[in-house]
Amino acid sequence: MLTLGIETSCDETAAAVVRDGQEVLSNVISSQSIHSKFGGVVPEIASRQHLKTILPVYEKALAEAGINLDKIDLIAATNGPGLIGPLLVGLTFAKGLALAKNIPFVAVNHLEGHLAANILEHKELSKHHLTLIVSGGHSMLVEVRDFGDYILLGATKDDAVGEAFDKVAKLLGLGYPGGAKLDKLAQSGNSSFVKFPRALRLEKNFEFSYSGLKTAVALYLKKLSETEIENQKADIAASFQEAAVEVLVDKTILAAEQKKICDITLSGGVAANSRLRSLMQEKISKSGGRLFYPDLKLCTDNAAMIAAAGFYRYQKDGPSEFDADATPYLKLV
Ligand code: KG4
Ligand code: ZN
Repeated sequence: MLTLGIETSCDETAAAVVRDGQEVLSNVISSQSIHSKFGGVVPEIASRQHLKTILPVYEKALAEAGINLDKIDLIAATNGPGLIGPLLVGLTFAKGLALAKNIPFVAVNHLEGHLAANILEHKELSKHHLTLIVSGGHSMLVEVRDFGDYILLGATKDDAVGEAFDKVAKLLGLGYPGGAKLDKLAQSGNSSFVKFPRALRLEKNFEFSYSGLKTAVALYLKKLSETEIENQKADIAASFQEAAVEVLVDKTILAAEQKKICDITLSGGVAANSRLRSLMQEKISKSGGRLFYPDLKLCTDNAAMIAAAGFYRYQKDGPSEFDADATPYLKLV
Protein backbone atom coordinates (compact mmCIF):
# COMPACT_ATOMS: atom_id res chain seq x y z
CA MET A 1 0.00 0.00 0.00
CA LEU A 2 1.47 3.37 -1.02
CA THR A 3 0.74 6.34 1.24
CA LEU A 4 1.30 9.95 0.27
CA GLY A 5 2.03 12.05 3.37
CA ILE A 6 1.66 15.83 3.56
CA GLU A 7 3.07 17.94 6.43
CA THR A 8 2.64 21.73 6.80
CA SER A 9 2.06 22.28 10.53
CA CYS A 10 4.80 24.91 10.99
CA ASP A 11 7.50 26.15 8.63
CA GLU A 12 8.40 23.00 6.70
CA THR A 13 6.48 22.13 3.55
CA ALA A 14 6.89 18.38 3.16
CA ALA A 15 5.57 15.51 1.06
CA ALA A 16 6.63 11.86 1.06
CA VAL A 17 5.68 8.47 -0.28
CA VAL A 18 5.94 5.46 2.05
CA ARG A 19 5.19 1.81 1.25
CA ASP A 20 3.26 -0.20 3.89
CA GLY A 21 4.29 2.19 6.68
CA GLN A 22 7.79 0.74 6.44
CA GLU A 23 9.72 1.79 3.36
CA VAL A 24 10.40 5.43 2.50
CA LEU A 25 10.29 5.88 -1.29
CA SER A 26 10.67 9.66 -1.15
CA ASN A 27 10.87 12.31 1.57
CA VAL A 28 10.91 15.89 0.28
CA ILE A 29 11.24 18.80 2.72
CA SER A 30 11.30 22.49 1.89
CA SER A 31 12.31 24.63 4.88
CA GLN A 32 11.28 28.27 5.01
CA SER A 33 14.45 30.23 5.72
CA ILE A 34 12.56 33.55 5.44
CA HIS A 35 11.59 33.44 9.14
CA SER A 36 15.17 33.65 10.44
CA LYS A 37 15.28 37.42 9.93
CA PHE A 38 12.22 37.79 12.20
CA GLY A 39 13.70 35.56 14.92
CA GLY A 40 10.70 33.21 14.86
CA VAL A 41 7.99 31.80 12.60
CA VAL A 42 5.54 34.43 11.30
CA PRO A 43 2.31 32.44 10.79
CA GLU A 44 0.91 34.53 7.92
CA ILE A 45 4.18 34.37 5.98
CA ALA A 46 4.42 30.63 6.66
CA SER A 47 0.92 30.08 5.22
CA ARG A 48 1.77 31.99 2.05
CA GLN A 49 5.04 30.10 1.62
CA HIS A 50 3.23 26.77 1.99
CA LEU A 51 0.77 27.85 -0.71
CA LYS A 52 3.67 28.59 -3.05
CA THR A 53 5.64 25.43 -2.31
CA ILE A 54 3.10 22.68 -1.72
CA LEU A 55 2.53 21.78 -5.38
CA PRO A 56 6.21 21.53 -6.42
CA VAL A 57 7.09 19.67 -3.21
CA TYR A 58 4.26 17.17 -3.82
CA GLU A 59 5.29 16.73 -7.48
CA LYS A 60 8.90 16.15 -6.44
CA ALA A 61 7.83 13.53 -3.88
CA LEU A 62 5.92 11.58 -6.54
CA ALA A 63 8.76 11.95 -9.08
CA GLU A 64 11.42 10.77 -6.61
CA ALA A 65 9.25 7.77 -5.74
CA GLY A 66 8.94 7.11 -9.49
CA ILE A 67 5.14 7.03 -9.47
CA ASN A 68 2.10 9.13 -10.34
CA LEU A 69 -0.95 9.90 -8.22
CA ASP A 70 -2.90 6.96 -9.66
CA LYS A 71 -0.58 4.58 -7.80
CA ILE A 72 -1.31 6.18 -4.40
CA ASP A 73 -3.65 4.14 -2.17
CA LEU A 74 -3.95 6.50 0.80
CA ILE A 75 -3.39 10.22 1.44
CA ALA A 76 -2.39 11.34 4.95
CA ALA A 77 -2.06 14.93 6.14
CA THR A 78 -1.30 16.58 9.47
CA ASN A 79 -4.38 18.24 11.01
CA GLY A 80 -2.73 19.42 14.27
CA PRO A 81 -1.21 20.50 16.52
CA GLY A 82 0.35 23.43 14.70
CA LEU A 83 -0.35 26.84 13.21
CA ILE A 84 -3.87 27.14 11.83
CA GLY A 85 -3.01 28.77 8.49
CA PRO A 86 -0.14 26.41 7.62
CA LEU A 87 -2.17 23.37 8.72
CA LEU A 88 -5.07 24.41 6.50
CA VAL A 89 -2.87 24.62 3.40
CA GLY A 90 -1.60 21.01 3.61
CA LEU A 91 -4.84 19.55 4.90
CA THR A 92 -6.97 21.18 2.21
CA PHE A 93 -4.47 20.23 -0.48
CA ALA A 94 -4.55 16.59 0.65
CA LYS A 95 -8.34 16.49 0.90
CA GLY A 96 -8.63 18.02 -2.59
CA LEU A 97 -6.39 15.33 -4.10
CA ALA A 98 -8.23 12.57 -2.25
CA LEU A 99 -11.66 13.83 -3.31
CA ALA A 100 -10.65 14.40 -6.93
CA LYS A 101 -9.13 10.93 -7.31
CA ASN A 102 -11.40 9.05 -4.92
CA ILE A 103 -8.48 8.00 -2.71
CA PRO A 104 -9.04 7.37 1.04
CA PHE A 105 -7.88 10.22 3.24
CA VAL A 106 -6.63 10.13 6.81
CA ALA A 107 -5.94 13.04 9.19
CA VAL A 108 -2.80 12.61 11.31
CA ASN A 109 -1.78 14.03 14.69
CA HIS A 110 1.70 15.57 14.22
CA LEU A 111 2.94 14.13 17.55
CA GLU A 112 1.77 10.66 16.56
CA GLY A 113 3.77 11.25 13.38
CA HIS A 114 6.91 11.96 15.41
CA LEU A 115 6.56 8.80 17.48
CA ALA A 116 5.73 6.79 14.34
CA ALA A 117 9.10 7.79 12.82
CA ASN A 118 10.66 5.27 15.22
CA ILE A 119 8.18 2.53 14.33
CA LEU A 120 8.83 3.21 10.66
CA GLU A 121 12.58 2.91 11.04
CA HIS A 122 13.10 0.28 13.72
CA LYS A 123 11.33 -2.98 12.94
CA GLU A 124 12.66 -4.54 16.15
CA LEU A 125 11.08 -1.90 18.42
CA SER A 126 8.51 -3.44 20.81
CA LYS A 127 4.92 -2.31 20.37
CA HIS A 128 4.98 -1.48 24.07
CA HIS A 129 7.58 1.22 24.61
CA LEU A 130 8.26 4.56 26.23
CA THR A 131 8.72 7.67 24.10
CA LEU A 132 10.16 11.04 25.00
CA ILE A 133 8.58 13.56 22.62
CA VAL A 134 10.73 16.67 22.48
CA SER A 135 10.14 19.37 19.88
CA GLY A 136 9.73 23.10 19.45
CA GLY A 137 6.25 22.97 20.95
CA HIS A 138 6.20 19.87 23.17
CA SER A 139 8.11 18.02 25.88
CA MET A 140 6.32 14.93 27.10
CA LEU A 141 6.83 11.37 28.26
CA VAL A 142 4.33 8.93 26.84
CA GLU A 143 3.86 5.23 27.46
CA VAL A 144 2.96 3.64 24.13
CA ARG A 145 1.03 0.40 24.86
CA ASP A 146 0.41 -0.06 21.17
CA PHE A 147 0.10 2.29 18.21
CA GLY A 148 -2.84 4.57 19.10
CA ASP A 149 -2.95 3.46 22.77
CA TYR A 150 -1.12 6.04 24.85
CA ILE A 151 -0.74 7.04 28.48
CA LEU A 152 0.60 10.51 29.15
CA LEU A 153 3.09 10.24 32.03
CA GLY A 154 4.04 13.91 32.18
CA ALA A 155 4.72 17.05 30.18
CA THR A 156 6.27 20.48 30.51
CA LYS A 157 4.59 22.96 32.82
CA ASP A 158 5.74 25.90 30.69
CA ASP A 159 8.19 26.11 27.74
CA ALA A 160 9.03 23.16 25.52
CA VAL A 161 12.69 22.09 25.55
CA GLY A 162 13.10 22.93 21.83
CA GLU A 163 11.76 26.39 22.56
CA ALA A 164 14.41 26.79 25.29
CA PHE A 165 17.14 25.69 22.86
CA ASP A 166 15.89 28.23 20.30
CA LYS A 167 15.65 31.06 22.84
CA VAL A 168 19.11 30.45 24.29
CA ALA A 169 20.54 30.11 20.78
CA LYS A 170 19.06 33.51 20.00
CA LEU A 171 20.59 35.01 23.17
CA LEU A 172 23.96 33.65 22.02
CA GLY A 173 23.49 35.25 18.61
CA LEU A 174 23.16 31.94 16.73
CA GLY A 175 20.02 32.96 14.80
CA TYR A 176 16.70 31.16 14.46
CA PRO A 177 15.99 28.27 14.72
CA GLY A 178 19.16 27.68 16.66
CA GLY A 179 18.79 24.27 18.35
CA ALA A 180 21.03 22.44 15.91
CA LYS A 181 23.60 25.29 15.86
CA LEU A 182 23.73 25.35 19.65
CA ASP A 183 24.27 21.58 19.66
CA LYS A 184 27.24 22.01 17.29
CA LEU A 185 28.75 24.89 19.25
CA ALA A 186 28.36 22.99 22.54
CA GLN A 187 30.57 20.21 21.22
CA SER A 188 33.61 22.45 21.68
CA GLY A 189 32.51 23.77 25.09
CA ASN A 190 32.90 22.76 28.72
CA SER A 191 29.56 21.58 30.09
CA SER A 192 30.64 22.12 33.73
CA PHE A 193 31.56 25.77 33.11
CA VAL A 194 28.32 27.18 34.60
CA LYS A 195 25.99 25.18 36.86
CA PHE A 196 22.58 26.13 35.45
CA PRO A 197 19.45 24.92 37.33
CA ARG A 198 18.00 21.47 36.65
CA ALA A 199 14.32 22.24 37.23
CA LEU A 200 12.18 19.51 38.86
CA ARG A 201 15.05 17.04 38.54
CA LEU A 202 14.61 15.62 42.02
CA GLU A 203 10.81 15.53 41.91
CA LYS A 204 9.64 11.95 41.46
CA ASN A 205 7.19 12.84 38.72
CA PHE A 206 7.45 13.19 34.96
CA GLU A 207 6.94 16.91 34.63
CA PHE A 208 9.41 19.32 33.09
CA SER A 209 9.96 23.06 33.28
CA TYR A 210 12.22 25.06 30.97
CA SER A 211 11.32 28.72 31.45
CA GLY A 212 13.58 29.07 34.53
CA LEU A 213 16.60 27.64 32.73
CA LYS A 214 16.17 30.05 29.85
CA THR A 215 15.91 32.97 32.31
CA ALA A 216 19.00 31.74 34.20
CA VAL A 217 21.01 31.87 30.97
CA ALA A 218 19.65 35.35 30.16
CA LEU A 219 20.60 36.63 33.65
CA TYR A 220 24.06 35.07 33.40
CA LEU A 221 24.67 36.74 30.04
CA LYS A 222 23.51 40.11 31.38
CA LYS A 223 26.50 40.21 33.72
CA LEU A 224 29.01 39.70 30.92
CA SER A 225 30.60 42.09 28.44
CA GLU A 226 30.31 41.35 24.71
CA THR A 227 33.89 40.09 24.62
CA GLU A 228 33.30 37.81 27.59
CA ILE A 229 30.19 36.39 25.93
CA GLU A 230 32.14 35.79 22.74
CA ASN A 231 34.93 34.01 24.66
CA GLN A 232 32.57 31.88 26.76
CA LYS A 233 29.95 31.15 24.10
CA ALA A 234 30.74 27.47 23.58
CA ASP A 235 31.03 26.86 27.33
CA ILE A 236 27.68 28.55 28.04
CA ALA A 237 26.03 26.58 25.21
CA ALA A 238 27.45 23.31 26.57
CA SER A 239 26.44 24.17 30.15
CA PHE A 240 22.89 25.05 29.11
CA GLN A 241 22.59 21.92 26.98
CA GLU A 242 23.81 19.69 29.82
CA ALA A 243 21.22 21.15 32.22
CA ALA A 244 18.43 20.75 29.65
CA VAL A 245 19.37 17.21 28.67
CA GLU A 246 20.12 15.82 32.14
CA VAL A 247 16.55 16.36 33.33
CA LEU A 248 15.13 14.72 30.20
CA VAL A 249 17.39 11.71 30.68
CA ASP A 250 16.79 11.32 34.43
CA LYS A 251 13.00 11.49 34.09
CA THR A 252 12.97 9.07 31.16
CA ILE A 253 15.07 6.53 33.08
CA LEU A 254 12.83 6.93 36.14
CA ALA A 255 9.72 6.33 34.00
CA ALA A 256 11.25 3.28 32.32
CA GLU A 257 12.16 1.80 35.72
CA GLN A 258 8.80 2.55 37.30
CA LYS A 259 6.81 1.21 34.36
CA LYS A 260 9.26 -1.65 33.71
CA ILE A 261 9.64 -0.73 30.04
CA CYS A 262 12.79 -1.84 28.19
CA ASP A 263 12.43 -0.06 24.84
CA ILE A 264 12.74 3.71 24.82
CA THR A 265 12.46 6.05 21.84
CA LEU A 266 13.29 9.71 21.27
CA SER A 267 10.80 11.56 19.07
CA GLY A 268 10.67 15.12 17.66
CA GLY A 269 13.21 17.71 16.57
CA VAL A 270 15.25 17.70 19.79
CA ALA A 271 15.79 13.94 19.33
CA ALA A 272 18.45 15.13 16.87
CA ASN A 273 20.49 16.52 19.77
CA SER A 274 23.84 14.76 20.01
CA ARG A 275 24.19 15.09 23.79
CA LEU A 276 20.63 13.86 24.43
CA ARG A 277 21.38 10.81 22.29
CA SER A 278 24.73 10.03 23.91
CA LEU A 279 23.74 10.60 27.56
CA MET A 280 20.49 8.68 27.13
CA GLN A 281 22.39 5.82 25.48
CA GLU A 282 24.92 5.75 28.30
CA LYS A 283 22.24 5.58 31.02
CA ILE A 284 19.97 3.12 29.21
CA SER A 285 22.83 0.73 28.45
CA LYS A 286 23.60 0.61 32.18
CA SER A 287 20.02 -0.39 32.98
CA GLY A 288 19.93 -3.02 30.22
CA GLY A 289 17.30 -1.25 28.11
CA ARG A 290 17.34 -0.38 24.41
CA LEU A 291 17.33 3.12 22.94
CA PHE A 292 15.95 3.98 19.50
CA TYR A 293 15.85 7.30 17.69
CA PRO A 294 15.12 8.21 14.09
CA ASP A 295 17.67 9.16 11.47
CA LEU A 296 18.27 12.95 11.51
CA LYS A 297 16.02 13.50 8.47
CA LEU A 298 13.13 11.78 10.25
CA CYS A 299 13.65 13.60 13.60
CA THR A 300 12.68 17.10 12.55
CA ASP A 301 9.42 17.81 10.72
CA ASN A 302 8.93 15.62 7.65
CA ALA A 303 6.10 13.93 5.78
CA ALA A 304 7.43 10.35 5.80
CA MET A 305 6.49 10.10 9.48
CA ILE A 306 3.02 11.46 8.63
CA ALA A 307 2.60 8.89 5.84
CA ALA A 308 3.68 6.10 8.22
CA ALA A 309 1.38 7.24 11.04
CA GLY A 310 -1.43 7.68 8.49
CA PHE A 311 -0.95 4.12 7.28
CA TYR A 312 -1.06 2.68 10.83
CA ARG A 313 -4.10 4.84 11.69
CA TYR A 314 -5.89 3.70 8.56
CA GLN A 315 -5.20 0.05 9.44
CA LYS A 316 -6.69 0.67 12.87
CA ASP A 317 -9.63 3.02 12.26
CA GLY A 318 -10.17 3.30 8.49
CA PRO A 319 -10.37 6.64 6.70
CA SER A 320 -11.11 10.01 8.32
CA GLU A 321 -14.16 12.06 7.48
CA PHE A 322 -13.56 14.86 5.01
CA ASP A 323 -14.73 17.35 7.62
CA ALA A 324 -11.71 16.51 9.86
CA ASP A 325 -10.63 20.02 10.77
CA ALA A 326 -7.28 21.73 11.27
CA THR A 327 -6.91 21.80 15.08
CA PRO A 328 -4.05 23.96 16.42
CA TYR A 329 -4.12 22.49 19.96
CA LEU A 330 -4.87 18.90 19.00
CA LYS A 331 -3.86 16.55 21.83
CA LEU A 332 -2.16 13.18 21.53
CA VAL A 333 -3.71 11.93 24.75
O1 KG4 B 1 9.83 18.53 15.60
P1 KG4 B 1 10.33 19.81 15.11
O2 KG4 B 1 11.03 19.84 13.77
O3 KG4 B 1 9.18 20.85 15.00
C1 KG4 B 1 8.17 20.91 15.94
O4 KG4 B 1 7.25 20.05 15.88
O5 KG4 B 1 8.30 21.78 16.83
O6 KG4 B 1 11.29 20.38 16.24
C2 KG4 B 1 11.94 21.59 16.06
C3 KG4 B 1 12.76 21.89 17.29
C4 KG4 B 1 13.34 23.29 17.27
O7 KG4 B 1 13.14 23.88 18.54
C5 KG4 B 1 14.81 23.04 16.99
O8 KG4 B 1 15.66 24.04 17.48
C6 KG4 B 1 15.02 21.73 17.70
O9 KG4 B 1 13.87 20.98 17.39
N1 KG4 B 1 16.23 21.03 17.25
C7 KG4 B 1 17.28 20.77 18.07
C8 KG4 B 1 18.25 20.12 17.28
N2 KG4 B 1 17.77 20.00 16.01
C9 KG4 B 1 16.52 20.56 16.02
N3 KG4 B 1 17.47 21.04 19.37
C10 KG4 B 1 18.64 20.64 19.92
N4 KG4 B 1 19.62 20.03 19.24
C11 KG4 B 1 19.47 19.74 17.93
N5 KG4 B 1 20.46 19.11 17.26
ZN1 ZN C 1 7.39 18.43 14.85
